[in-house]
Amino acid sequence: MKYRKLGDSDLEVSEISLGSWLTYGVGVEADKARACLDDAFAQGVNFIDTANIYGRGAAERFLGGALKGRARDSYVLATKLYFPMTDSDRGLSRAQVEKQLDASLERLRTDYVDLYQCHRYDQDTPIEETMEALTRAVESGKARYIGFSEWPAERIQAAIDMSGVAKFVSSQPQYSLLWREPEDEVIPLCAAHGISQIVWSPLGQGVLSGKYDPDRPPPKDSRAASEEMGGFMDRLMQPDVLRAVQRLKPIAEEAGLTLPQFALAWVLRKPNVASAIIGASRPSQVQENAAASGVVVDTQLFMRAEAIIEEALGRVEA
Ligand SMILES: NC(=O)c1ccc[n+]([C@@H]2O[C@H](COP(=O)([O-])OP(=O)(O)OC[C@H]3O[C@@H](n4cnc5c(N)ncnc54)[C@H](OP(=O)(O)O)[C@@H]3O)[C@@H](O)[C@H]2O)c1
Repeated sequence: MKYRKLGDSDLEVSEISLGSWLTYGVGVEADKARACLDDAFAQGVNFIDTANIYGRGAAERFLGGALKGRARDSYVLATKLYFPMTDSDRGLSRAQVEKQLDASLERLRTDYVDLYQCHRYDQDTPIEETMEALTRAVESGKARYIGFSEWPAERIQAAIDMSGVAKFVSSQPQYSLLWREPEDEVIPLCAAHGISQIVWSPLGQGVLSGKYDPDRPPPKDSRAASEEMGGFMDRLMQPDVLRAVQRLKPIAEEAGLTLPQFALAWVLRKPNVASAIIGASRPSQVQENAAASGVVVDTQLFMRAEAIIEEALGRVEA
């Protein structure tokens, strides 16, 4: 496993990290979830991403139990706030930052998180209030560093321009061969200001594994077939997209990689991407995906893959 520096922080994160959206505490049984986490550490993964909203606290509670007993300084732990935890608890106000951080720490059974992230931008709270609250969280020692997820470029710029507040070190956008939006504005802006990307759904929720046959129902043990986990895949599960993904398999083979490894190497080709946050429903996926760290792929192969996907998405989204 290779490691990259997270923005202007002193954190070194594994190129492949493990997330917990939909999976741990929710759709994946506890013993399998535990096995995935143990395997991730065995593969050199040191970076774990979660959020208060995942299973409304259930993912954090799972991690709190599963991480107990591991030296706290042996892994980098990230969580997030913003989405509604109750009818009245939501957003990035001063009160919410304090309340949600304390609640996350309690569920995670730790005194601090390494990275505290704003899960989205809060239109209802002045950015000054959010940044001051995050700064206090850092000063209190409860959060070592701060980050954001899916903030619009102008809000990122506004935070960068503020003085006397803690600086963001990470940005968490969706990024994969199937979703390249951050390339336009977010990546260049962040790269110029010491902010790394830690990217979500780098495998398009599993679609970029190539396991979905456009002419067959999804495999029974897959996210797309799962009632609990498959609710966010409509854009990806289009026959044209699935057909295009099948055409990537021989290209990955030419690179000497499996398709998931090729797709992960593609996001990691950008130096501003510090880590690809994968999900995993079983340990074999963790092992396969972790092996994508450090591989070298001919740029021509990436370009061929990009052209195939762009053409298919162009047709689907036209
Ligand atoms: N900031 C945000 O708004 C946001 C949003 C979404 C996610 N995230 C973060 O990003 C993390 C990753 O998201 P994600 O789970 O969508 O990522 P992903 O890695 O694109 O998809 C993970 C899923 O793909 C399947 N898979 C993984 N490796 C595979 C392999 N080698 N072969 C076949 N199938 C494989 C597994 O599902 P099955 O086995 O069930 O098919 C797995 O659960 C989340 O856990 C969360 O921490 C953040």
